[in-house]
Order: sequence, then structure tokens, then C-alpha cells
Amino acid sequence: MKDVITSRRSIRKYTDQPLPEGTIETILRAATAAPSAGNEQPWHFLVIEDKELLAKVPEIHEYSSMVPSAQACIMVCGEPAVARHGDMWVQDCAAATENILLTLNALGLGGVWLGCYPKMSRVTALAQLFGVPDNIVPFSLVPFGYPAEEKSPRDNYRPERVHYNRW
Ligand SMILES: Cc1cc2nc3c(=O)[nH]c(=O)nc-3n(C[C@H](O)[C@H](O)[C@H](O)COP(=O)(O)O)c2cc1C
Repeated sequence: MKDVITSRRSIRKYTDQPLPEGTIETILRAATAAPSAGNEQPWHFLVIEDKELLAKVPEIHEYSSMVPSAQACIMVCGEPAVARHGDMWVQDCAAATENILLTLNALGLGGVWLGCYPKMSRVTALAQLFGVPDNIVPFSLVPFGYPAEEKSPRDNYRPERVHYNRW
């Protein structure tokens, strides 16, 4: 059986094949299954499918040239005010982002995590482009679609990075 976790790779090239109906909801249900500190779930998701908006993202984010060719892009955002555990909203949004990537892989789709927060120039410009309210922070972008590139699984396991009981 294909291992959804160990076979995940960053996919930056996409075909023109449209997404099946219901795909976005499936992905977002998986995103919101992520753990969050105190179960605060301090996230929001902006689904971008508008080609004109997708085309504007590389003007803001210098490593996002694949975004205009994606079938869709999900911007994971945090709402720090609802997170009683301070900056842990950041980990919560990271967990949701990873769930999105793993779900894409499970569905035969591909995507890549584009970092936004804490690079405030990206955060501010993305918030402005998408009309995000002041209390919401763009955390990551995940452009995706059917893969137009194949990547082999990588073995990142390094025993010297593993420590038992004491360092
Ligand atoms: C926090 C974070 C930010 C990233 N930002 C970018 C980015 O701006 N552009 C990009 O093409 N890839 C980005 N990536 C993807 C990494 O480059 C990729 O995960 C890494 O090279 C390992 O490759 P793999 O995902 O195929 O295993 C980011 C990944 C993380 C976790």
C-alpha cells in the first residue's frame, strides 16, 4: 500500500485537469482534523480558485511561481485572539497545513507548502490582496492540482538526530 506520509513530496507542477467535485471540502475536513492547543482550532481557510488572483501571488511571494498554474490554492490563516495558548496558534496552523499536504497525496493530487508567517512583508501584502481582516494572519499557502511531475519518496531518517532519554 502506498504510504501517504513517506511518499509525500513538494509538487510544483500541475496539469490542467480540474478537481473533482467535493475535493476542496474533503481537503478542508482533513485540515480541521489536525490537533490544536486546547482544541482552540484558531484557523481559517481561504480557497483561491480565481485565476486573476492566483496570478498576483508571485508578485508578493518570491518563491511562489507555481501558484498561477495550480487548480486551487488554500491559504491557511490564524486567528491569534481565539488562541488562549498564545503563539501556539502557529503550530496549530502548521498541523493543519501538513494535513492538507498529506490529504492531497492520498487523493493523487500534489501541492507545496509556501511559508508566509512570520515573514511580515508577505503577511501584510497577502492580507491586502485577499481582503483579510486585521485580526487574521495569513500563515501558509498551499497551491495544488494533479501532478505534472513525479518525485520519488526520500528517506530523511538520520539516526544521529535521534536521542534517547538524555541527549
Ligand atoms: C515552512 C515552510 C516553508 C516553505 N516555503 C516554500 C516556498 O516558499 N516555496 C517553495 O517552493 N517551497 C517551500 N517549502 C517546501 C520545501 O522547500 C520542501 O518541503 C523541502 O524542500 C523538502 O522537500 P519535500 O517537501 O519534497 O520533501 C516550504 C516548506 C515549509 C515547511
